[in-house]
Amino acid sequence: MKLLDTTHSNITEAAEVIRTGGLVAFPTETVYGLGADGLNPVASAKIFEAKKRPTFNPLILHIANKDWLKRFSIYDDERINRLVEIFWPGPLTLVLPKTDLVPDIITSGNPTVAVRMPNHKVALELIEKSDVPIAAPSANKFGHLSPTTAQHVVKSLGNKVDIILDGGKCSVGVESTILELHDGEIYMLRPGGLSKEKIEKEIDKIKSGRTNPNKPNAPGQLPFHYAPSIPLDFLSEENLKKYSGKKIGALFFEEIKDKANFENIKILSSSGNMNEAAANLFRFLHEFEKESLDLILVEPVKEEGLGVAIMDRLKKAAAKYQS
Ligand code: TXA
Ligand code: MG
Repeated sequence: MKLLDTTHSNITEAAEVIRTGGLVAFPTETVYGLGADGLNPVASAKIFEAKKRPTFNPLILHIANKDWLKRFSIYDDERINRLVEIFWPGPLTLVLPKTDLVPDIITSGNPTVAVRMPNHKVALELIEKSDVPIAAPSANKFGHLSPTTAQHVVKSLGNKVDIILDGGKCSVGVESTILELHDGEIYMLRPGGLSKEKIEKEIDKIKSGRTNPNKPNAPGQLPFHYAPSIPLDFLSEENLKKYSGKKIGALFFEEIKDKANFENIKILSSSGNMNEAAANLFRFLHEFEKESLDLILVEPVKEEGLGVAIMDRLKKAAAKYQS
């Protein structure tokens, strides 16, 4: 790990790390972000590994130019245009329907994407030089406080990142406010650095009440409780018997272990790399949905590192079909 000042040449070096699939912690006006190339699923998967997040939460794409919003989201709403006009760059994240450019691991398989243009010159220069949207959650280990200095990041994630850009203290110090456009209404998913009052001076009243995916009221209420539209179960001798005669899509981790007559077979990572496996997970489940299958059988992966998050998702998906 390198802890670097925010000189132009250091930011250029950090941008190169982003472009080549590495991790860079960088300052924003809210909190420090743990950034990766948001269009590169394997690089983005490294974020979850570094944070030791037990689940895949969707990530915010950070952009350097308001025009980039149209590349990653589709909407037709004057209020959103107005919010962008007035509050960007700034501590406001917008959740909108995504375009096909956005990888599934960024959105946890959901049809919406969160986008924000940070109000920090180091962050903007880094994104511009990387020339990709930077996916970034707060740069802390899961369950720890959000970092507002580079030293916080060193303490929490020091050996997990390639570069930490030290831009001093964050001026806002709390995460961005998150608004979602849903069924023509604007909801606040997370209060944050931009107050409701300021927002409501510019657009009509916003609503609350949609569950923040980070703080679900009850398990299973998670809007991001992703399950494929066809049943999913784990691969075992017993299940092979139970489901014999069905049209099965099999998802293996590293290599094909079972010679059963599967309709379709996918391998998460032929090199046994958990980052690659995580990066492929949602994409492969989506692909299976397009086949005419009765069922998906998945080889369980080891529950360590990113395997914990992978199994969390798979168990939830499997539970949905268990009655
Ligand atoms: O200020 C911030 O927002 C900081 C800086 C680094 O930009 N980032 C941050 O990221 O707080 P994170 O990952 O700690 O929080 C992002 C929140 C999570 O609650 C996540 O569930 C939500 O955004 N989110 C992301 N994509 C979403 C989506 N498609 N729909 C709803 N919520 C989403
Ligand atoms: Mg966070």
